[in-house]
Amino acid sequence: MKTRLTEMLGIKHPVIQAPMAFAAGGALAAAATKGGALGMIGGGYGDPEWIDAQFNIAGAARIGCGFITWRLAEQPTVLDRVLERQPAAVFLSFGNPAPYVDRILGAGAALICQVQTLKDARHAMDVGAQIIVAQGGEAGGHGEGRGTLTLVPEIADEIARRNTDIALVAAGGIADGRGLAASVMLGADGVVVGTRYWASGEALVHPRILADSLHASGDDTIRTRVLDIVRGYDWPQRYSVRARKNEFVEKWHDAEAGLRRDLGPQTALWDKANTQGDPSIAAAFVGEGLGLIHNASPAEGIAAQIVEQAAALLLKAGS
Ligand SMILES: Cc1cc2nc3c(=O)[nH]c(=O)nc-3n(C[C@H](O)[C@H](O)[C@H](O)COP(=O)(O)O)c2cc1C
Repeated sequence: MKTRLTEMLGIKHPVIQAPMAFAAGGALAAAATKGGALGMIGGGYGDPEWIDAQFNIAGAARIGCGFITWRLAEQPTVLDRVLERQPAAVFLSFGNPAPYVDRILGAGAALICQVQTLKDARHAMDVGAQIIVAQGGEAGGHGEGRGTLTLVPEIADEIARRNTDIALVAAGGIADGRGLAASVMLGADGVVVGTRYWASGEALVHPRILADSLHASGDDTIRTRVLDIVRGYDWPQRYSVRARKNEFVEKWHDAEAGLRRDLGPQTALWDKANTQGDPSIAAAFVGEGLGLIHNASPAEGIAAQIVEQAAALLLKAGS
């Protein structure tokens, strides 16, 4: 499948592996790129040592790096340090990309801006995004409430009106070829895939958490603030996390004030459970697409499988 996205990024398949904080390291990014997608390190909160180590693991693979945009303001040097690595792309989400645009484009990296609303898509277009990712609330990890099914075509119409050089990518709930085929029909040039890559051998996910997730459904996920409170992150109120429901999340989801009051002991309990991979307490940042995933396939084959199924479906629909 050749699209504007494959041309702009010089990739075989119209698939970007999502830059998932803590889960997407150099091994996953390199494997996704080897499989014809664009692999991404999840630079997340901007820990420079961790990011350096992951770039070293990825070696010579052509990859990009993602950041949580509001956090970049608190980490003034990390972007330049990554740009010295000459990444193929920088992926910004959750905040205003404007202060970083010139440095990213000046370094020759593609600028990918993930947005959750039409208003933010318009702003990303105004400040020079080359690729806009429309992220629906089905997505794993942080996001907002709009559904992929309406957000993607609404932004596609806006791009068609204003600047057809910009590529549009759909994110949120795309875990197989049906999601890619549907996204193309909605006007997207490709897809960002997170949860499907999270469930791969190369992702930095505790094996017990991964094994426990492979039999779950999209019903078993929830958008919540519990996981930011327990980690002590000061996320802007508009964003929440989609993650797997478990005892910990269900206990505190409607009792945030209680969690804040007992934060020290609860954080210690939660940290220990994450180290041990205890699925009843530890977090699994996953989207509704979890219900479409029943195995932990090697990351290298994921993009080709998605594209093969999508191409077959689109051909069938055409006839
Ligand atoms: C484990 C996990 C961590 C994520 N971390 C980030 C992140 O640090 N920065 C970011 O822009 N998006 C992050 N996301 C969201 C992805 O960019 C993407 O929008 C999402 O994974 C797409 O939906 P899907 O999970 O249904 O494929 C994360 C997603 C997951 C599953």
